[in-house]
Amino acid sequence: MKRLRVALLGFGVVGSGVYDMLQKPPYDTLVSIECIFVRHLFKDRGNVPRHLFTDRVDDVFKSNTIDVIIEAMGGLDPAKAMITRAIHDRIHVITANKEVVDHDFHAFVSHAKKQGVAFLFEASVVAGVPVISSLVELIDSDRITRIEGILNGATNDVLTHVHAGLTFSEAVQKARNQGFLEADPRDDFEGVDALRKIMIMARIAFGTEIDRKDVCRIGLKEITPSMTLFLKSRDWRLKQVAQAGSENGNTVISVEPMIVEDRSLQGSVEHENNVILFETEQRGRLVMIGKGAGKKTTAAAMVHDLMLIHRNRYYVVADGVEDRPSDNRTSLRTASYLLEVKDADAFSSITRTRHGHFIITRPIQRTVLEAHGKEIVFYARIHEQVRL
Ligand SMILES: NC(=O)c1ccc[n+]([C@@H]2O[C@H](COP(=O)([O-])OP(=O)(O)OC[C@H]3O[C@@H](n4cnc5c(N)ncnc54)[C@H](OP(=O)(O)O)[C@@H]3O)[C@@H](O)[C@H]2O)c1
Repeated sequence: MKRLRVALLGFGVVGSGVYDMLQKPPYDTLVSIECIFVRHLFKDRGNVPRHLFTDRVDDVFKSNTIDVIIEAMGGLDPAKAMITRAIHDRIHVITANKEVVDHDFHAFVSHAKKQGVAFLFEASVVAGVPVISSLVELIDSDRITRIEGILNGATNDVLTHVHAGLTFSEAVQKARNQGFLEADPRDDFEGVDALRKIMIMARIAFGTEIDRKDVCRIGLKEITPSMTLFLKSRDWRLKQVAQAGSENGNTVISVEPMIVEDRSLQGSVEHENNVILFETEQRGRLVMIGKGAGKKTTAAAMVHDLMLIHRNRYYVVADGVEDRPSDNRTSLRTASYLLEVKDADAFSSITRTRHGHFIITRPIQRTVLEAHGKEIVFYARIHEQVRL
């Protein structure tokens, strides 16, 4: 079988991990790395041959020299343009970049299908778990009704440390020291990263485009020590939970801080681990747990995609996607919330039970909370499985 000729775009944590893996058997005989595209051409790259590196886009696309690009740069620019050019030139694409996959999902999927090449993105969603290929296979013989997950390992690590007794800022520092948090962790805490992942899965599972303005994304605020004590007193935990469901033909998506029970599946997933639950019509509930990031983990996900191309058995995401705005119902849904408030008396009309400055609300629409904005120190939705 002919060796696959690969261009590696990016040589950071992930790109160098893919390179290392492809130097070893059996991949060294199946794949040859033809070039490595980077931003800083003169950076020290250890023992990797210098002639492989380039910072010129045209070097990557020299006529008929590449079969596959493996994109591990991140961001939209130049990733979007290079993926588009690769597909146009009938070059297979593998990417770990959830931002670009989320941003241009349908354009890439339909363009790749038209050109007869692969567009594979396993590493972009919970890299340690083969969630994308599983999802594509599942929907061949089943209907997915709901997806739920803890999809951001960095945030989950911080929340695990807070639960163990650290203050929020100590927990952030600890996660940063362990390499789980970026210098600027806003995408993690504000749910942007988890939202990208659940959006990618939802498009595959439900076959609809989702209007971003209708999606509910609530960031994680600093958690007070008194909130931590209150949660512990009830055997509850705070998690950042992503949910996607199909309700009456509408795709409903949310990422928000959520209270779960300590002993629940979600409550037991700690540190940088992720969990994904699929509820299906035929098979019932399916669960996958694993690490979402890391050099070796993410490289393995990309090499998995590469081997699918090598065997010419790669997954193709259905492009029967309706580009209709979804009538998102997240704001209409009712749920109970845990609130930490300044003046509990001001909330008596929505209170179910009161515990000092903490209130558990009756089932209410989120918009009711927005009306109380400034009075609320902290709030989190209470998961529907929590017994109140
Ligand atoms: N890290 C993980 O565990 C993980 C897990 C899952 C998915 N991902 C995704 O994988 C992608 C890469 O992540 P990473 O952690 O490997 O990033 P990284 O360590 O920052 O590496 C990025 C690489 O891309 C190159 N690059 C960036 N911008 C470029 C540009 N404009 N032109 C040319 N080259 C450019 C950089 O070149 P220089 O070396 O010259 O600076 C660097 O080699 C991201 O989309 C990320 O979300 C990462």
